[in-house]
Amino acid sequence: MARKRVGILISGRGSNMASLIARSAQPGCAYEVACVISNRPDAKGLQTAASHGIATVALDHKALGSREALDAAIHEALLAHGCELVACAGFMRIMTGEFIGKWEGRMVNIHPSLLPLFKGVDTHERALEAGVRVHGCSVHFVSEELDGGAIIAQGVVKVEPGDDAQALAERVLTVEHQLYPAVLDVLAQGRISMRDGRTVYADDAAAQLSILQDG
Ligand code: GRF
Repeated sequence: MARKRVGILISGRGSNMASLIARSAQPGCAYEVACVISNRPDAKGLQTAASHGIATVALDHKALGSREALDAAIHEALLAHGCELVACAGFMRIMTGEFIGKWEGRMVNIHPSLLPLFKGVDTHERALEAGVRVHGCSVHFVSEELDGGAIIAQGVVKVEPGDDAQALAERVLTVEHQLYPAVLDVLAQGRISMRDGRTVYADDAAAQLSILQDG
């Protein structure tokens, strides 16, 4: 079966992107990375993608001037590279409803919290401040509500005594790197979809992607 072509959107480091690329190199992976697009030309992840021979698109949101212009340029690049799915991986711009609508049910994101808790930024600091005992990450479909789309799978880590935001972020990131490629693969296999704003799983294995970290 033809592999699904994925466009990855990043803004910075790109460690999740790298984990998605690594999975795509494994035999039997249902997707290939068609391009990596950044709204920041200096994003480190662009170099990583290029070093893997993946097409990169550097857009400058400041030069483009508006959300609409950035989204139009991203959409054009995705189409130019034949993308069928979009994976946001540390993409730090709020997207227009028009753009999101075009990719509805085909665009996913990873967020570093157990949604619907801690939408937005500084999630690890806020988790510590709130005193939660478990924290983690969520892969969800992108909807118009920021970090509010249908949840597909979550990764859970314990909050340890003495954790600071960095220590917690590192443990969550380890789980992100396991969870996101697994979810994207199953999505590309057509075993996960979105209907009426909810995630629909075609089989039990697709519904059991969430990770509970040992320890
Ligand atoms: C990750 O924690 C991701 O969940 C969040 O932003 C961070 C991006 O890190 N959306 P990286 O660029 O993937 O290394």
